[in-house]
Amino acid sequence: MDLLKLKKNKLHINNIKLEKILKKRQTPFYLYSLNQIRQNVKYINSSFKNFSPLICYAVKANSNLSILKELKKNNLGADVVSVGELKLALKAGIKPNKIVFSGVGKTDEEIKFAIKKNILSINAESTNEITLINDISKKLKKITNIGVRINPDIKAKTNRKIATGNKVNKFGISISEFLNVIKNKNKFQNIKISLLSVHIGSQIKDIKVYKKVLSLISKILIKLKNLKHIINCIDLGGGMGIPYFKHDKKFDFKKFGLEISKFYQKERIKIIFEIGRFITGNSGHIISKVIYVKKIKDRIFIIIDTGMNDMARSAIYDAFHEIIPLHKSTKKFSKKVEFVGPICESSDTFGVYKNYSILKEGDYVCITNCGAYGRTLSSNYNMRPLIEEVILNNKKIKTVRLRQKIEDLI
Ligand code: LLP
Repeated sequence: MDLLKLKKNKLHINNIKLEKILKKRQTPFYLYSLNQIRQNVKYINSSFKNFSPLICYAVKANSNLSILKELKKNNLGADVVSVGELKLALKAGIKPNKIVFSGVGKTDEEIKFAIKKNILSINAESTNEITLINDISKKLKKITNIGVRINPDIKAKTNRKIATGNKVNKFGISISEFLNVIKNKNKFQNIKISLLSVHIGSQIKDIKVYKKVLSLISKILIKLKNLKHIINCIDLGGGMGIPYFKHDKKFDFKKFGLEISKFYQKERIKIIFEIGRFITGNSGHIISKVIYVKKIKDRIFIIIDTGMNDMARSAIYDAFHEIIPLHKSTKKFSKKVEFVGPICESSDTFGVYKNYSILKEGDYVCITNCGAYGRTLSSNYNMRPLIEEVILNNKKIKTVRLRQKIEDLI
């Protein structure tokens, strides 16, 4: 259930009027509800009752330290894709044996650091990387546990830019290449291939595609058995989609849980997930101010103080993030309105609406569902400072990251 709610035309989160949180704060700012995150984690866990997967939170979705600490308290591990994310996860107190490291371009330094920290698994994405991990481990006189990410050549129904499981995508290695590595594993004396990983993309709603992945993995496990190679863990990645539109369907975790449970009963192998968006997506929003209401012949531009540098998803993926006024007027604009930011690009737009409630300059709006891939994709484009981040824990309001100062950017 979403904790962001309109009550008597005023927007609330955690049952607090958003206007109250505004006080003295410079807009725009990110606002996260820890309660929403806890609720999401609880929902996911309740769908996985028949087995106990390790849920590694995909740090790239939202790398706010306070959020990571909260997730750690909820027993989550971390999925990281750079040494920066790895250091952050460790700083949040997440134990190395709950951290997996993904990514197609890990450097020597990153691999060395991960090996020294004894993380749960470095998930390699090419034979070149497997060789490099082996060589570095040898120099460090270590045997390193690694995973191999396979590219299943399965197309997920999602935005082309966030699909990863097709053979033309740069991620993972083909199944035949993987089996070749296993056949030649004697060449790699300083690694132990103990995990198989797969991640087919993000914002996926359809469970069928995961079923395909599971049946493919079962086939691979038979082949591995024939090669007398035992792995002890399957990492199924993330990708579970969330609703961005009002009547969008939600990813059915209960059904998904049943499918995974069937797989688990059959294979009896430890399961890992790398979930990002579903954990933090609906927990975060941007509070923004209307700077100008600019009228042209066929529409009204509502120019807000949030730009594509603060929230890039609409510009990059044409993603829709519903914008709701903090105080909704009962009167409506007669023309279409388009919400746009101040950045000098036509892609700096947040969507077109019909019959939108009247807004005036100085009013406030909320850009919803920005808790995943919001702040982490933001930039200093147009010399704009990264904005403040505020956390709501029950009724407690706390700034957890200050707005950058322009002077610091110069
Ligand atoms: N594991 C791996 C290896 C990944 O590459 C990703 C996301 C995840 C897990 C987490 O996926 P999630 O559960 O969050 O869907 N910037 C895009 C999304 C890019 C996703 C990148 N990889 C967006 O804003 O939609």
